[in-house]
Amino acid sequence: MTQKFLVITGASRGIGRATAELFLAADYQVINISRRDPQLEGVRHISADLAVTGWAEAVADKLKQWLAAASQITIIHSAGLLLKDNIETVSAEDLHRVMQVNVIAPAELNQLILPSMAAGSAIIYVGSTLSEKAVANSCSYVTSKHAMVGMMRANCQDLSGKGIHTVCVCPGFTETEMLSDHVGGSQEILADIASGVTFNRLIEPSEMAATLKFAAENPVMNGSIMHANLGQIES
Ligand SMILES: NC(=O)c1ccc[n+]([C@@H]2O[C@H](COP(=O)([O-])OP(=O)(O)OC[C@H]3O[C@@H](n4cnc5c(N)ncnc54)[C@H](OP(=O)(O)O)[C@@H]3O)[C@@H](O)[C@H]2O)c1
Repeated sequence: MTQKFLVITGASRGIGRATAELFLAADYQVINISRRDPQLEGVRHISADLAVTGWAEAVADKLKQWLAAASQITIIHSAGLLLKDNIETVSAEDLHRVMQVNVIAPAELNQLILPSMAAGSAIIYVGSTLSEKAVANSCSYVTSKHAMVGMMRANCQDLSGKGIHTVCVCPGFTETEMLSDHVGGSQEILADIASGVTFNRLIEPSEMAATLKFAAENPVMNGSIMHANLGQIES
């Protein structure tokens, strides 16, 4: 019998959490990696700080043990770090940290799991609208989200012939703590952001979860970027 596994980062809240719930409901075995335990019944949790060098070695044995029964594995790289910085203020240290969480940790996780991944498996990146455009004051984030697309495309080429596909799903403004923290919790700014979306609302994390599941289960999307932003109004 096929044992389908989801290994997801960042399911302690937001898009990752909604995604873990959706895959659980679809009878996947779900393993989460984040600092906090999502406390979701049925989700196996590994506590790790993706910003800290050596995290991958620390989780390798447990992950390998839990994946021993897996025949198909979906990896979803949802954990993300968003800082406010720009060309003048971005520090080397912050740039390293954002690249570590958003780009290097996904590469490390892929390498840990790849030997266990059979045909039918998938590697899904959670990018951003800012994977293909930029706004001011998000220098490290924009840089890292563009890099995710490059890595996804490189993975697609490297995995040719293995039956493993990869996609970068790029959410627009989604109602999570990342977004609300970014605007200092201001309901006014959130409403203003929503007014820049053709549907005049933010995206629900569950809508992103459904999009990620589609990407994971449809190999025809291999190598592509899926924008999922409810239509942003062009200014
Ligand atoms: N919300 C949006 O509007 C939006 C738009 C475009 C793209 N995205 C992308 O969507 C993804 C999910 O975002 P979200 O809005 O759901 O964010 P969120 O609510 O802030 O959740 C982020 C998740 O990442 C984990 N994480 C962050 N730093 C980590 C670290 N150092 N080590 C381990 N885990 C870490 C957090 O877990 P712990 O804190 O427990 O470690 C948390 O579960 C991100 O990649 C984000 O860039 C979001």
